[in-house]
Amino acid sequence: MGMPEIPSNLQERLRAAKSVAVLSGSGISAESGVPTFRDAQTGMWARYSPEDLATPQAFQRNPRMVWEWYQWRRQLVLEAQPNSGHLAIAAMEGRFAGFRLVTQNVDGLHQRAGSSRVLELHGNIFRNLCFREGIELDELVESIEPPPRCPHCGGPVRPGVVWFGESLSGKVFEESLRACTDADVLLVVGTSGLVHPAAGLPAHAKASGTFVVEVNPESTPISGLADVVLRDKAGPALTSLLEALP
Ligand code: APR
Repeated sequence: MGMPEIPSNLQERLRAAKSVAVLSGSGISAESGVPTFRDAQTGMWARYSPEDLATPQAFQRNPRMVWEWYQWRRQLVLEAQPNSGHLAIAAMEGRFAGFRLVTQNVDGLHQRAGSSRVLELHGNIFRNLCFREGIELDELVESIEPPPRCPHCGGPVRPGVVWFGESLSGKVFEESLRACTDADVLLVVGTSGLVHPAAGLPAHAKASGTFVVEVNPESTPISGLADVVLRDKAGPALTSLLEALP
């Protein structure tokens, strides 16, 4: 199979663009071997759905199980390497004066690929928070029964990610919204467009005149509003796109 073709109208838009934004979702890490959220879970976690594990209620019900699921995910991410999609996005940062990367991913693979200034809408899996106080913790007190405990109040420690039913940081969301609406071109990569408010960003961008491009092998609710759809995996599509840049 050849490399995906980049339509000429997209090439022209990118040539003229001063600012480019990327909104990424878990699909960009699929080629690194990190399962997407809505993919079937594997191994010992196969019988649970993320919606049953990634909520404050699930943590309250069974903190040990939720903590151990995140420890498993942390290990999976540590063993994964950034792929050509992450690398192409990191390289794009140097090509445009105004470049912003907004991600729903918590895996840190964009940063490991060399992207700087990443807006993490849903937090980062390697951060730890006190479940009671919500403060970030650098030190944890190990306990016989996981999860570890907060050194200040003894409360259980949770990962620093945004769970279903929780609010995003207002500051990060505002900045992400501005990045998407100010951009001349927005690349929406590997997201199902189902989880709000992040899923609303492409529509806000489109309404403010941004040229919206979707990169996803599957159709999503974003496909209909996109000006160009690249029906491909992130790795090959973004590599072609990078090569098409002036
Ligand atoms: N390249 C590009 N896209 C891909 C690839 C690939 N190689 N493989 C899969 N995809 C696409 C799928 O077609 C799907 O549309 O990635 C998308 C993954 O969708 P989700 O699993 O729903 O992930 P995401 O959109 O990031 O989920 C949003 O939901 O659970 C919460 O907080 C979690 O950040 C997550 C949010």
